[in-house]
Amino acid sequence: MKKVFLFFCVILNCFPAVTQNNTLIKPGELWPDTEGKHINAHGGGILFYNGTYFWFGESRLPRGEKDRTNYGVGCYSSKDLLNWKNEGLALRVINDTASLLQPGSVIERPKVIFNRRTGKFVMWFHHELKGQGYKAALTGVAVSDNITGPYKYLRSLRPNAGTWPVNFPEENKSATVNEGTLKSWSDEWIKAVKEGLFVRRDFEGGQMARDMTLYVDRDGKAYHIHSSEENMTLHFSELTDNYLDFTGKYYRVLPGGSNEAPAIFYSRGKYYMFTSGTTGWKPNPGRVSSADKLSGEWKELGNPCRGTEDENKTTFRSQSTFVLQIPGKKNIFIYLGDRWIPDNLADSRHIWLPIEWENGNPVIRWHGEYDINKLK
Ligand code: GAL
Repeated sequence: MKKVFLFFCVILNCFPAVTQNNTLIKPGELWPDTEGKHINAHGGGILFYNGTYFWFGESRLPRGEKDRTNYGVGCYSSKDLLNWKNEGLALRVINDTASLLQPGSVIERPKVIFNRRTGKFVMWFHHELKGQGYKAALTGVAVSDNITGPYKYLRSLRPNAGTWPVNFPEENKSATVNEGTLKSWSDEWIKAVKEGLFVRRDFEGGQMARDMTLYVDRDGKAYHIHSSEENMTLHFSELTDNYLDFTGKYYRVLPGGSNEAPAIFYSRGKYYMFTSGTTGWKPNPGRVSSADKLSGEWKELGNPCRGTEDENKTTFRSQSTFVLQIPGKKNIFIYLGDRWIPDNLADSRHIWLPIEWENGNPVIRWHGEYDINKLK
């Protein structure tokens, strides 16, 4: 009997417990990966490649983890969207004080796209510099031949230096008198912001880039979509053919609308975009907009949430990050959001909710758990 017991102990030690058995999506709960650890990929997005899903997101330092080099962009792979294998850090901070990406700098909302022409995987992310809070407002780019990485960090920049937005009226290119003295959030200030106060201020050095996403349009052109102008206006910036730089062609979207956390998708002839307001880690009422063309005009459709008053005020306690279209199922889309836990970001919860339609507009409802394979 002792021998049998010993045999089982040895077997169990050799093969650590593998929990490859998630069968339902359970928004808001801990989501164990195939090693049983909560998926540490936040503010992220998913790329479907060669029959496998790859989930990229902020790999936050778990509580108590002192090693700041253990930080960057996490990558997980899955065949079924339920059970995810940790592929490790796709991009890691660089342990060199001469690097902008040194430990202590902040990497947020990373997204990866595949470039068919070059055969390379391209990652962009919101990058803030060590010790500077959110002041730098840069976007960083990294590239890899392998989807899971390691990604080679190329550089960080403020986009579109020295160029005006395509949809920027000629008369807005010169400053109005006294615009620097206007009181933030006064009517005059909001008017001046809408008319390009910050675009003019940042013309030489490049436009601010904070919350971001990437979107590859049906013609293969890619866009870097980011909160700019002190988070007051979204910029849709065209990327070069290799996706590694900006062409200088960009559009202002919803000027003065104070949108962040953009997540774009296309369905039945229209583009849709989820965004949030700008209240930091605290959730706020979600927003959805639509447009016939990616460059606009974007029309606000209101709050997409269909829940209790409290749920609608907080987007089911989440903030948008991505919309996933289920491959092969043209009209099945999932809203991906983060329920941030600011004092333990690694533990932030994943809020995945199926997108439903109401009078032709996308809406989301709470589902405590659901079978992603049964969505219609
Ligand atoms: C949110 C933003 C997050 C993070 C946070 C920091 O507004 O969406 O990605 O930057 O602010 O406070």
